[in-house]
Amino acid sequence: MGEWLDIGWLHEIPVRGSRTVPVDGGEEIAVFRTGDNQVFALVNKCPHKGGPLSQGIVHGHSVACPLHNWNIALKTGEAQGNDKGCTPVIPVKVNGGRVLICRAGALKAAA
Ligand code: FES
Repeated sequence: MGEWLDIGWLHEIPVRGSRTVPVDGGEEIAVFRTGDNQVFALVNKCPHKGGPLSQGIVHGHSVACPLHNWNIALKTGEAQGNDKGCTPVIPVKVNGGRVLICRAGALKAAA
């Protein structure tokens, strides 16, 4: 536990966009940056049919899945509105402008 993976500079992630990070032995992670400069990380799979959330549109603290437009809360990974489902969330933090994700969290999310 406690191992953080440095995945790069915050400013390299587009505002209201994302980047993906492969994790050895785990699922691909999508790291999102919101308009108010917060960072969230989710497994890059929609809880509906596995759509790539990294290609969705970030609005507020949610992302709209590019496949069927479900809205997923970035903080909890939960589908919003009448849709039901949850994508695993990965602990993420920013330190000195670098974005770090929790390796153990990423592996657990993939299990
Ligand atoms: S796969 Fe994401 S809304 Fe259907």
